[in-house]
Amino acid sequence: MWVPDSVLHIGAEATATAGSWMGLSAVLKKREPRAYRHPSLDRKLTRQRLSAEARILARLQGIGFPSPALLDIDAEGGWMLLSRIEGRPLYEALMDRAAGLEAVRAFGALIRRLHEADVAHGDLTTHNVMIDEAGELTLIDFGLARIAPEIEQLGLDLQVLNECLTASHYTLEGAVDIMLEGYRAADAGASPTAAEVVERFDAIRGRVRYHA
Ligand SMILES: Nc1ncnc2c1ncn2[C@@H]1O[C@H](COP(=O)(O)OP(=O)(O)OP(=O)(O)O)[C@@H](O)[C@H]1O
Ligand SMILES: [Mg+2]
Repeated sequence: MWVPDSVLHIGAEATATAGSWMGLSAVLKKREPRAYRHPSLDRKLTRQRLSAEARILARLQGIGFPSPALLDIDAEGGWMLLSRIEGRPLYEALMDRAAGLEAVRAFGALIRRLHEADVAHGDLTTHNVMIDEAGELTLIDFGLARIAPEIEQLGLDLQVLNECLTASHYTLEGAVDIMLEGYRAADAGASPTAAEVVERFDAIRGRVRYHA
């Protein structure tokens, strides 16, 4: 039985509510219908996205990757229940200086682990990684993630985070380089290699600069 407690986040696509489920600390993530979308198309998109997210969460749990456990799902109803991750978004911890470059390096390493598992995240900002008291990181929000991505999508993960770090955390000097250091150091031999993904990221970054 689900007992809601407090609203954590009202986003563009979803509302996240904390509560308890069979005594476990959990989060209900519910996609709200979009008024501007045709109702049946909206339901179909919601169902597809939620099932895709559930599939990725199951895969990540299977390999022990730090991510929420999927407790229950109703794709038709547009919701899923996740285990609640301790701590707060890295965004907040970096903003008030409770975390610094070491956390950014660990985030880079975590991203490499995700990529080694053949998953691209699709929305890698510091809002989508939680940090706990011990400094442990857990990735959340796999709504735009992909299994078996192209190298371009891996490079784009790094580019999205690059933009987040340079726009929101610009006072944290050298953050992008440290993140890339962590990413490279965590190479465990999967293809494409960390060096190849960083090379693609550099190409994407160059394209963005050129057109800016
Ligand atoms: N399993 C979880 N444990 C703890 N907090 C969570 C969990 N899932 C989500 N949250 C909190 O809710 C927020 C929003 O969740 P999430 O990132 O999954 O949704 P979202 O798709 O980004 O929403 P939108 O894109 O519409 O803003 C997170 O930034 C986090 O603070
Ligand atoms: Mg999010």
